[in-house]
Amino acid sequence: MQFTVAIDGPAAAGKGTISRAVALRFGFRHLDTGALYRAVGVMGGDPVAAARALTPEDLARDDLRTLEAGQAASRVAVIPEVRAALLEFQRRFARREGGAVLDGRDIGTVICPAAEVKLFVTASPEVRARRRWLELGGEAAAKPYDAVLAEVRERDGRDMNRADAPLKPAADAVLLDTGDLSADAAIARACDLVASRLPGKGA
Ligand code: C5P
Repeated sequence: MQFTVAIDGPAAAGKGTISRAVALRFGFRHLDTGALYRAVGVMGGDPVAAARALTPEDLARDDLRTLEAGQAASRVAVIPEVRAALLEFQRRFARREGGAVLDGRDIGTVICPAAEVKLFVTASPEVRARRRWLELGGEAAAKPYDAVLAEVRERDGRDMNRADAPLKPAADAVLLDTGDLSADAAIARACDLVASRLPGKGA
């Protein structure tokens, strides 16, 4: 069975948590497409050459989850040749037998416009910045909340306003605002949606 779940949305909206849980629940493979851009961003040098030569080892680096890697990712992500170099790999992953969940910014709009399920996960910049800040250690974090909020806003701006594959919900995406939802409640809604679209469910 080929079955693609496209999960898009801004940084720290809860895409990763929801995607991993959906993949586990339905036995689908999961691809965090942000890791591709983060790996290209932290490699330095020519980003187009880095994207064309990306290896599984590059995706296993332990410095991909930092705020700096996120900023570097969003800077290389505006380059059309970088996006083009990463496109085929993502499409092949999406159509693998057994089902796939991909999370990112342009999965439902550009990478997999025919995905069986499209979810756009969002929350206010303040809610998302607070989550990131707590992940970094809250009061004990090296960065104050205001600095994290400024970075979230800067990255949102770059992701939403770029010319190539900007962050926006696909016309047929289901919107999920996680601002007032627990992680478990958000996961339950996503799983209900996927279950309703599985072959044989008639949706
Ligand atoms: O999701 P994550 O925060 O890891 O993504 C890092 C950056 O990579 C995003 O801010 C965005 O600029 C870029 N990205 C993208 N398209 C994707 C996934 C990530 O442009 N499908």
